Amino acid sequence: MIEVKELSKSYKVGSETVNAVDNVSLTIDKGEFVAIVGHSGSGKTTLLSLMGGLTKPVSGTVTIDGVNLWSISDNDLSVFRNRKMNFIYQFSSLIPTLNSLENVMLPTAFGKEITNASEYASELLELMGLKDKKFSYPSQLSGGQQRRVAIARAFINRPEIILADEPTGDLDEETEAEVMTLFHRMNSEQKITFICVTHSTDIAKQCRKTYRMSQGAIKEA
Ligand SMILES: Nc1ncnc2c1ncn2[C@@H]1O[C@H](COP(=O)(O)OP(=O)(O)OP(=O)(O)O)[C@@H](O)[C@H]1O
Ligand SMILES: [Mg+2]
Repeated sequence: MIEVKELSKSYKVGSETVNAVDNVSLTIDKGEFVAIVGHSGSGKTTLLSLMGGLTKPVSGTVTIDGVNLWSISDNDLSVFRNRKMNFIYQFSSLIPTLNSLENVMLPTAFGKEITNASEYASELLELMGLKDKKFSYPSQLSGGQQRRVAIARAFINRPEIILADEPTGDLDEETEAEVMTLFHRMNSEQKITFICVTHSTDIAKQCRKTYRMSQGAIKEA
């Protein structure tokens, strides 16, 4: 369970202060599939990175399965993060010098022990429709293919939580639908909790719960 309490994050730019996330409270149960929608700049990415312990809040708490993320050491936090969750970032984040298979396997170097990591990485790439791109480097892939490698990578550590920031933003409709079907399958079969930022009303409609962000604040939609 993810418990977010009175969470705020602001940035100072020159003399201006931007309240990117403003007093947000919400609870997400294990196995939920939640969408977060909202205009550009409304604070979605900031909230996601706060929930994942990548950004430190100005005030408020994020508690995941009883662990208050900012009450533990940096080292414990990164271990906790690696065991529990994975991110699909809004912008491509593959390592250019590694091929698809190696990129997908990268998190296994830091996280928990995964048996048959390379077989599982292959399987995930195949699920993403990239059977013939396992040995290609990011520069040899289209934007949508790179995105699908990043999606495959998010599952390799068998996370309990996936934080996805517009995961299908640059995919065609058909591939987007396939990826969403896979997410829903992972959600029901493996009880993975999904928190998915999206601009697509279709995707939001498929989720059990939708939150809307506006100027840092959040409301159930
Ligand atoms: N590192 C930063 N420094 C200063 N301001 C920032 C920083 N990161 C985000 N912001 C500001 O915080 C606000 C929220 O940004 P955020 O990236 O969370 O929005 P978003 O909802 O994800 O937008 P988009 O849909 O465009 O991705 C914006 O006004 C943005 O300019
Ligand atoms: Mg964003």
